[in-house]
Amino acid sequence: MKIKSIRNAKNIKGKRVFLRADFNVPFRMSDVGCRMSDILDDYKIISCLPTIRFLLRHKCKIIIATHLGRPRANTKTQKHKNTKTHSVKPIAVRLGKILGKRIKFVPDCIGKKTEEEAGKLKEGEIMLLENLRFHKEEEQNDKKFAKRLSRLADIHPAPFGQLSNNIKNILPKRRGVYVNNAFAASHRKHASLSAIKRYLPSYAGLLLQEELENLSKVLFPKKPLIVVIGGAKINTKIKLIKKLRRKASHILIGGALANNFFAAHGMEIGKSAADEKNVTLAKALKNKNRGGGANIILPIDVVVGKGKGNKEPEVKNAYDVKKSEKILDIGPKTIGLYSGFIKKANTIVWNGPMGMFEQDNFKHGTLSIARAVASRSRGRAFGIVGGGETVEALRQTKMIDYVDWVSTGGGAMLAFLSGEKMPGLKGIVK
Ligand code: 3PG
Repeated sequence: MKIKSIRNAKNIKGKRVFLRADFNVPFRMSDVGCRMSDILDDYKIISCLPTIRFLLRHKCKIIIATHLGRPRANTKTQKHKNTKTHSVKPIAVRLGKILGKRIKFVPDCIGKKTEEEAGKLKEGEIMLLENLRFHKEEEQNDKKFAKRLSRLADIHPAPFGQLSNNIKNILPKRRGVYVNNAFAASHRKHASLSAIKRYLPSYAGLLLQEELENLSKVLFPKKPLIVVIGGAKINTKIKLIKKLRRKASHILIGGALANNFFAAHGMEIGKSAADEKNVTLAKALKNKNRGGGANIILPIDVVVGKGKGNKEPEVKNAYDVKKSEKILDIGPKTIGLYSGFIKKANTIVWNGPMGMFEQDNFKHGTLSIARAVASRSRGRAFGIVGGGETVEALRQTKMIDYVDWVSTGGGAMLAFLSGEKMPGLKGIVK
């Protein structure tokens, strides 16, 4: 894999850089469900710092763009309604505090005013654009919108910025560059990740580069490779299971994902989450498992929630679940079994919690797997963990630093490891 890294770009000194970051961070919510301005986890912001600092060392003028959440579309105005709840302004404040420098926040990501502000940027200055997804064209990979974004890096510096377009066109202009550092969004075919590369010389940021280099180690793993997959939807993980099962010695299943496999085996899953489509997918995998090495491993025991609201925990054999019960965690025998596999691994990938770890009664499976992965990683095995909830669980164990690579991508990590097309990488990774 060849990566066109910003490290190898020539003559970037003093240039205007359009830096696509992924600052899609979680915020604290109020009791009535409104977003507060406190950022709960700034891991994605911190991970972008080496690239920002690299550009600052080269005296670049940095224009950072990100999406935040999925604001609801208002088809009439082509803009998005809930601008308050999805504004990235608090991120500008947090980034400024971390870097110890002023970050200019611009309340739109395109338009005359935004261009003017970009034109005024001096060497070593940074501005953050408002949420890209406030414009529907971002998600439509609209070329005109991408071109307007690219102009922020390509425009004439002030005072030329104030001249009419006719005059500007005859003046020489210094081309800017585009840097994609948003690995976590690179599976999206969006204007700031895909179409924009038509208009600017494009490079990978240092985070994107590190993500690719580390995740690639799973595609050519030091064996045995153990894959731990949990979470909810099998349809988002099926490709990964199919792709890695040939390389992996074992694929350990947990979370609601396991319910689909239990149902595919005709086992009672009570009130647990599972749907017909996903059970059919699990059936197909189960049948292959019979003929092809039987490396998909299911929990042998579970923790069910009983009583009012299914809140009282009880450990059960996976075959003994009753209609009134809900499977909410893997049981102690499964923790032992899975930890045994993890202890023998030379490469480990983990994506998706083993149960409802947000609730104290049902967090033990997920946290035990987090500890097992962390204690085997860094030295004995190469360990990779990804996905928002999975990383959150790992953080709860205070062992995050013991894992070799904690990916900023959830869906993007799954897409990359599954061999899916990644529009954000096209043109910068071969
Ligand atoms: C993520 O958090 O996984 C990325 O920022 C992508 O977000 P999206 O799923 O809303 O495109």
